[in-house]
Amino acid sequence: CGIIGYVGHEQVAPILLQGLRRMEYRGYDSAGVAICSAQKGLQVKKTKGRIQALSDLIHGGSDLEGTVGIGHTRWATHGEPSNVNAHPHVSESGKFALVHNGIIENYMEIKEALQKKGVQFTSDTDSEVVAQLLEYFYQESGNMLEAVSRVLGRIQGSYGLAILCEEDPDTMITARKDSPLILGYGDGFNFVASDVTAMIQYTRDISYMEDGEIAVLTRDGIQVYNSLLEPVEKQHSYVDWEISAAEKGGYPHFMLKEIMEQPEAFRKAVFPRIKDGRVVLEDLHITPEYIRNIQKIDIIACGSSYHVGMVGKYNLERLLRKSVEVVLASEFRYCDPLVDEHTLVIVISQSGETLDTMAAMREAKRLGARTLSIVNVVGSSIAKESDDVLYTWAGPEIAVATTKAYSTQLAVLDLVGLYFADLLGTIEAEEYCAIVEEMLCLPAKMEEVLKKTEDVQYFASRYFNHASVFFIGRNLDYALGLEGSLKLKEISYIHSEAYASGELKHGTISLIEPGTLVVALGTYAPLFDKAMSNVVEVKARGAEVLALTTDSFREKMEKTADSVLCIPDTHRMLQPSLGVLPLQLFSYYVALQRGCDIDKPRNLAKSVTVE
Ligand code: G6P
Repeated sequence: CGIIGYVGHEQVAPILLQGLRRMEYRGYDSAGVAICSAQKGLQVKKTKGRIQALSDLIHGGSDLEGTVGIGHTRWATHGEPSNVNAHPHVSESGKFALVHNGIIENYMEIKEALQKKGVQFTSDTDSEVVAQLLEYFYQESGNMLEAVSRVLGRIQGSYGLAILCEEDPDTMITARKDSPLILGYGDGFNFVASDVTAMIQYTRDISYMEDGEIAVLTRDGIQVYNSLLEPVEKQHSYVDWEISAAEKGGYPHFMLKEIMEQPEAFRKAVFPRIKDGRVVLEDLHITPEYIRNIQKIDIIACGSSYHVGMVGKYNLERLLRKSVEVVLASEFRYCDPLVDEHTLVIVISQSGETLDTMAAMREAKRLGARTLSIVNVVGSSIAKESDDVLYTWAGPEIAVATTKAYSTQLAVLDLVGLYFADLLGTIEAEEYCAIVEEMLCLPAKMEEVLKKTEDVQYFASRYFNHASVFFIGRNLDYALGLEGSLKLKEISYIHSEAYASGELKHGTISLIEPGTLVVALGTYAPLFDKAMSNVVEVKARGAEVLALTTDSFREKMEKTADSVLCIPDTHRMLQPSLGVLPLQLFSYYVALQRGCDIDKPRNLAKSVTVE
């Protein structure tokens, strides 16, 4: 979900709508705004559907008057997407309106207690409980800040909150716990938002709220307090990326733009970290001694970031000769993991806010592990809480289906592998130099792949009608297939699965019928022949095979597969960085053919800050 709030002198409704549009990737089930003015009191408008539906409802904002307001775009958790369950939520008398990200875990208990006192609820959401409780405490003290502080003492769970009170129309209060909120400072106005993209047009002077903090925003300034209501001095940061980075820039979709940005993103993530042919990770505090004593590495992540971890497992184990496990964050936190002070836990997250990943990282830290995060969003919770952070510097990624974040995470993980291997002496000097050299050549090779999209477009138009697709591969190709398959299913809604080719004969092959589409990955040179034999196996059962291979194996592959996509050769460890590009493009063009909403696929959100 996405939150925005503004206190200033300009009419706020258009500012809120624009900010919400920029954050729509965070959730798009329903949206709403609340605007406060001394003359008109609290005006709340909300609706099921996209920001456009909200904009239509309030005629682009012209229906609502006021210069103080909050807005929300929702990804439904508690309560189906509907008009009543949309935010803002309002207290019984209409005195308070608030927007909330996160989950209030003890909402039932509070709701029942308030209902016993006669409070009437209008929605099924946990968030409404906060509004009602606020009014209840406010009746006692008549002090908004004090009432908010008391509410925070009662609720459990996670929250980013922005609150308005009709009786104090020039003030907004915000609070955070385990859900991001960023404060933006201006001249005569101030902002709060879940994401800087929502306010970058107005200010680049920001600070990150910490867990437990409460902020009071007026036109003249922002005062932040800790949970004891003691004033806190905030450190300011400056956002230096261009606003165009968060716009489509002539592309029909953010996803395509972000796919095309990958060579440049790779350069930014990698080149400054290679000096005189050596990987230099100056941002790391971890000592060589600690690295030497690592007994095992756990990689924890969700979604595509987990798939980066899968590639990383193969590469890191080979480079370091240490055991590397990749664990889904949502599993790690509840599996009583075998982790201690000799375990390095690498945490991968584009947003740096995924709650499962955050919670798994905290569990790892509690057990004594050292944590190193690979994160894209600067200043995000995971970046701040991990012992070490390596940023991916991919710039804002807006499309829900990740592309450039995947590529840069992979690049950074490869750098970590090389850096550690060098320190541990587990890599031959010649191979080290060869990989580093190849990394420097990769952006140009990526550009080469991205220049030739016609083949991919052609195959997408040929195969977009398939109901079910299987991705098969071995080793790094298996890890790559997981990502290719996820991309396809998330944006085109085609059922798709990825399997390790060797497992086919143990079950999956029974699903292959004449005409079934199999995407066979044969880019991992050491196992190319084995990959070929699996292609033969599925062909014999009538499968239609679309293969992905490298230039040097093209001819061999063309003899057996029905269709072949080709990528340039590189060091085998880096091959997935090229292989992922045609797979992303394939999903994109298939989804386009099927008329899907590519940047905002149904039921998904980019940043999942709930469990
Ligand atoms: C969501 C997104 C995925 C992403 C996953 C993990 O499900 O839709 O694209 O891979 O979260 O996100 P993170 O920000 O932690 O990498």
